[in-house]
Amino acid sequence: MSKVIKGGTVVTADLTYKADVKIEGGRIVEIGPDLKGDEVLDATGCYIMPGGIDPHTHLEMPFMGTYSSDDFESGTRAGLAGGTTMVVDFALPNPGEGLLDALKRWDNKSTRANCDYSFHMAVTWWGEQVFDDMKEVVGRGINTFKHFLAYKGALMVNDDELYASFKRCAELGATPLVHAENGDVVAELTAQLLAEGNTGPEAHAYSRPPQVEGEATNRAIMIADMAGAPLYVVHTSCEESHEAIRRARMQGKRVWGEPLIQHLTLDESEYFNKDWDHAARRVMSPPFRNKQHQDSLWAGLQSGSLSVVATDHCAFTTEQKRFGVGDFSKIPNGTGGLEDRMPMLWTHGVATGRITMNEFVAVTSTNIAKILNCYPKKGAVLVGADADLVVWDPEKEKTIAADSQQSAIDYNVFEGKKVKGLPRYTLTRGQVAVMDGEIRTQEGHGEFVAREPNATVNKALSKWKDLTAPRPVERTGIPASGV
Ligand code: URP
Ligand code: ZN
Ligand code: ZN
Ligand code: ZN
Repeated sequence: MSKVIKGGTVVTADLTYKADVKIEGGRIVEIGPDLKGDEVLDATGCYIMPGGIDPHTHLEMPFMGTYSSDDFESGTRAGLAGGTTMVVDFALPNPGEGLLDALKRWDNKSTRANCDYSFHMAVTWWGEQVFDDMKEVVGRGINTFKHFLAYKGALMVNDDELYASFKRCAELGATPLVHAENGDVVAELTAQLLAEGNTGPEAHAYSRPPQVEGEATNRAIMIADMAGAPLYVVHTSCEESHEAIRRARMQGKRVWGEPLIQHLTLDESEYFNKDWDHAARRVMSPPFRNKQHQDSLWAGLQSGSLSVVATDHCAFTTEQKRFGVGDFSKIPNGTGGLEDRMPMLWTHGVATGRITMNEFVAVTSTNIAKILNCYPKKGAVLVGADADLVVWDPEKEKTIAADSQQSAIDYNVFEGKKVKGLPRYTLTRGQVAVMDGEIRTQEGHGEFVAREPNATVNKALSKWKDLTAPRPVERTGIPASGV
């Protein structure tokens, strides 16, 4: 059974051209004019693009005394509804737990996925077992390791652990990721704010100013450089962090920054809303920032100093958010976005002229496929690539509303926002999961995407670090010891 997507315009990270796309066995088998197939999908007036890849999700994540409410079924269904065809979730070992045991738990959850997925492994503590397990994890197709510099007393690692883990990543040809906020300072500010009677959700933002993010981003960049590893900085939300990334890239360091669609389109005024629920629903780390920071993030996408737009989808219900009534530090941190990332970025990015269609494809799919080393299986419209595709209708409109969303939670942080630009079809390995608003996902269709270590950038960096490593000076005429 073959399918042909007919009459559309193919848009990739570097090309825009009219062509039909033929699919068989879950892959793209032909691209060109006048193709024939058993089934035809009409793409007249539409753009045929690589499906979105969201490299930052937390589905059914145990966190802050509860679990995030979207699991791999509802989360990937939400993603597909918005044109995303692959997610990368974080396996989180408990303190003292082996990495492979954590991986087993994530393997079990992900059997329900409607689209393909992969994992990052988190390094939440350090010891010989973690050092050994990291090699095994790489052998299982996971080449990215996440480190939290925030969440003191829970997920946070210290600088000695960070350096040891980054060095291990470099040895294994893997790439470290970092949540960059200074957890020690956040803990101090939190205690101080609570003691002063600042208990509402707005104090969450006061406790995590841009400085804690800028400091931690710069620190992680420098530590990665000394360890000889590239670095991917998740949820870059402010100019201070962006500045550190921009400077590092200009110096030739292999560093990538990932703004979220939430930080690009929502600002800190959300926390000053008189309605406690409204503000608490938007509590996430880092918090939303002011317009100047937003402009910096958009400029980063335009100039290429920021590389990927993600969601950090970590959805909690209003009831869960209310754990923090009277103490903002107990509000589960996280917001949703999987269904809305692509339409919101198109509406606020492409339709406004801030980014091009090709840049849209780059930052929602192709760049991250290359960074994660799964390109061109994913992130490409090429013969042989997986047929993870979105047929994008730039004229299709809707108003975002919790009532009609796929996510399991009872609200949407983008509620009431109008978007123009939505999928006509979303295909996951050739299977139509979304057809003009109708959801036809198949639970369990998703497969794990194994990713090899030693991507080209990792290889180049390790070659350079070897070449420039400290070496003893060969000396003649060494004087006798002074003793
Ligand atoms: O607030 C957030 N971002 N929650 C999810 C966990 C994380 O830090 O990414
Ligand atoms: Zn984070
Ligand atoms: Zn994170
Ligand atoms: Zn996250």
